[in-house]
Amino acid sequence: DSDRQTRRRAAVETVPVRDHSLAYPSILASAKPVPFQQPLPLLTFSYTPDRLLEFTDSALRYYVEPPKRAELRYGYERWVRRPEEKGRLDGLLKAVSKVRTRMDAGGSDGGAWLRDVGVISWRGVMTKILTAPYEQRDGWEMNVMEVNGTLYLEEHLSDARLAEKNDIVPHHRLQSYYGYSFESWSTSSKSGPRETVEGHLPGWGGDVDTNVQWCSVVKTKLGDTRIVIGGEVDCVRGTFTGKTDTFVELKTSLAIRGPQDEAKFEKKLLKFYFQSFLLGVPEIVVGFRTPSGQLTTLQSFKTIEIPRLVRGKPGAWDPLICLDWGYRFLSFLKSVIHPRYDDTAILVGKGNTEEANTKARVWRVKFVQGSGVSVSPLD
Ligand code: A3P
Ligand code: MG
Ligand code: MG
Repeated sequence: DSDRQTRRRAAVETVPVRDHSLAYPSILASAKPVPFQQPLPLLTFSYTPDRLLEFTDSALRYYVEPPKRAELRYGYERWVRRPEEKGRLDGLLKAVSKVRTRMDAGGSDGGAWLRDVGVISWRGVMTKILTAPYEQRDGWEMNVMEVNGTLYLEEHLSDARLAEKNDIVPHHRLQSYYGYSFESWSTSSKSGPRETVEGHLPGWGGDVDTNVQWCSVVKTKLGDTRIVIGGEVDCVRGTFTGKTDTFVELKTSLAIRGPQDEAKFEKKLLKFYFQSFLLGVPEIVVGFRTPSGQLTTLQSFKTIEIPRLVRGKPGAWDPLICLDWGYRFLSFLKSVIHPRYDDTAILVGKGNTEEANTKARVWRVKFVQGSGVSVSPLD
């Protein structure tokens, strides 16, 4: 049946490349449902145009319907582009420390709660991990730090790879701008009907500055592992309730002209899905565009309904495979990095604060598409 076919498509047999390696997903023929807890928001914060992190909602944007046939090229020359960075965890750690302070002030033992967290990472890293079973194009690397039983995951970009990302060809740069431009056409700094931004085309939400971001930090659980995830939220619909229920993710994609385009889009939906799912974002608004950047149609997706939309289709994928893989991946990391705790099944924070493991160690994880992951210590 089609379920089994989807699983088979994700299955790649491989020989482990190193001692500490996890091949995937010969195991996945028997993917077991791993529970994923509905993400609960801990706090939100903003990056200012000067790229300062502040604990306000100054960068929060509200969804508005973009004008029909909006030109996504508009404002390209005025784009203030944040250079590609190394994906460091600093901002997220600042936010987690703020959460701790607030919890302590509120009388609850936030410190204890946070000691039980197994993983802290940006959403982009978690998306890469979970979508790995279906990744056929790009490999990735990450650094893992372990402190008192908590794994801190950050993307690793070599200097060469970073330079490459900052030196993209103009054509790709423009395409990437279309995505940000769509955000401007589709959002306003105030809730309610769009106000005209002085000196611009009607409907324009203001020139793009990619330094500015509104972020949400959530807590969730994959299997028995508590996870804290931070990531950007494009806008909210109506009002910000303090919960994730009005969050909206914005995306652009080429207009679909045939079955091939459709299959390609369905493959892309895997990333759209997990990116939003991980932060508890319930709605994704996709702006379809022409190759030269004119908006054609809009389509809103309910995040939780996406897996059912692709089931049995040519570009099909199964989120259960991803969650099962993600859980195995995290368990594998823990077993390699902290074998002492592996057999006791007490993985984190239980009375081990005074032990030798207060010193951070760094590990490098390498994912090779179609093959698996390997882990080695950096020092
Ligand atoms: P699209 O979302 O329309 O693709 P996000 O979707 O995560 O909110 O990111 C906003 C935009 O940033 C994207 O618009 C895309 O243009 C750009 N972007 C995000 N990730 C990218 C990547 N890995 N390479 C190039 N551009 C990227
Ligand atoms: Mg975004
Ligand atoms: Mg987006």
